[in-house]
Amino acid sequence: MKLLVTGGAGFIGSHFIRYWLKRHPEDEITNLDLLTYAGNLENLKDVQDNKNYKFVKGDICDRDFVFDLVRDADLVVHFAAESHVDRSIIDPSAFIRTNVLGTQTLLDAVKEFGKRIHHVSTDEVFGALKPEDPAFDENTPYDPRSPYSASKAASDHLVRAYYHTYGIKMTISNCSNNYGSYMFPEKMLPLFISNLMEGKKVPVYGDGQQVRDWIHVLDHARGIDFVLQKGKIGETYCLGGNSELANLDVTKTLLKLMDKDESSIEFVKDRPGHDRRYAIDFSKAKNELGWEPEMKFEDGLKEMIDWYKQNQDWVERCKSGEYQKYYNKQYGS
Ligand code: NAD
Ligand code: TYD
Repeated sequence: MKLLVTGGAGFIGSHFIRYWLKRHPEDEITNLDLLTYAGNLENLKDVQDNKNYKFVKGDICDRDFVFDLVRDADLVVHFAAESHVDRSIIDPSAFIRTNVLGTQTLLDAVKEFGKRIHHVSTDEVFGALKPEDPAFDENTPYDPRSPYSASKAASDHLVRAYYHTYGIKMTISNCSNNYGSYMFPEKMLPLFISNLMEGKKVPVYGDGQQVRDWIHVLDHARGIDFVLQKGKIGETYCLGGNSELANLDVTKTLLKLMDKDESSIEFVKDRPGHDRRYAIDFSKAKNELGWEPEMKFEDGLKEMIDWYKQNQDWVERCKSGEYQKYYNKQYGS
């Protein structure tokens, strides 16, 4: 089988490609990625010479280019996106372009050539939960509240609209917060780890009582594999990590694992419109696909910290250039 993976040079896409080449060595993968600030071919160094792997640089909004690649594939696995909420608050434009128009361009190509697409989405499309609310599942109404989640919600709606209107072959997964190696250091966990490695404080937004459900990135990659092998066309699957934690508790665990104390915490101004709680009920994926997350949060976090310690040069290269300007604007230098 020939897979076209979009956004494969990013955090989750690169793990998915490495996972897939190992599990399905007979398959061929083309990785289409624009190499924005978040895309990094270093993430795939260990597979770059695999004869079944090919990289092409390009934009998912570039229609002719996308049509040529989709024509040649059996299956599209769509990760490419602008993915950071804080950046979407500063400027939503790139989020609308890539996440909405880019997805529509891929859908047009999928429709034209009768291919299958799996759309990788987020639990953030469902909005924010109160402490007493049940976790999100596939029947939770959409209520996105940041420009990022609104753009992802729009893309999910388009994928379903193309299924109902044109009969395209599609599946969607809505996953909770991922963590693991190769995660760009603008997101909370790698930012905090890299700050602590440099002896800096960690900026906790607001009161730190916002809750996220953390899933190891390889559990997510395996979940997508299960959807691709066993999922039903037209269906959505919620994938979660069974690991609901408040940001402050995550921070305290991190401090403990990195031999730091709470004087390293700095409470900073809250994110505007900050969603209070996300949580996923993954019963459908468990009952229908036989998937459930395997990694325990503290074990995965230890592994992640070790990787960042051993790959400080990777972190430094991510932080040079454009990211430095973003960081200074967001947190002060
Ligand atoms: P990321 O920001 O690390 O990577 C995104 C990749 O997409 C980068 O390699 C970038 O170069 C590429 N890209 C951006 N715009 C492009 C364009 N116009 N054309 C081609 N390539 C482009 O993101 P991630 O964290 O790996 O997330 C991957 C997907 O998973 C996204 O769709 C995201 O919404 C979804 N998701 C992420 C999380 C999470 O916790 N990170 C959770 C659930 C779902
Ligand atoms: P993030 O990694 O940006 O993921 P998302 O917003 O998609 O959930 O943030 C995870 C949580 O950490 C979120 O509640 C915001 C919070 N956060 C901080 O407290 N400080 C920070 O510097 C960042 C980047 C995030």
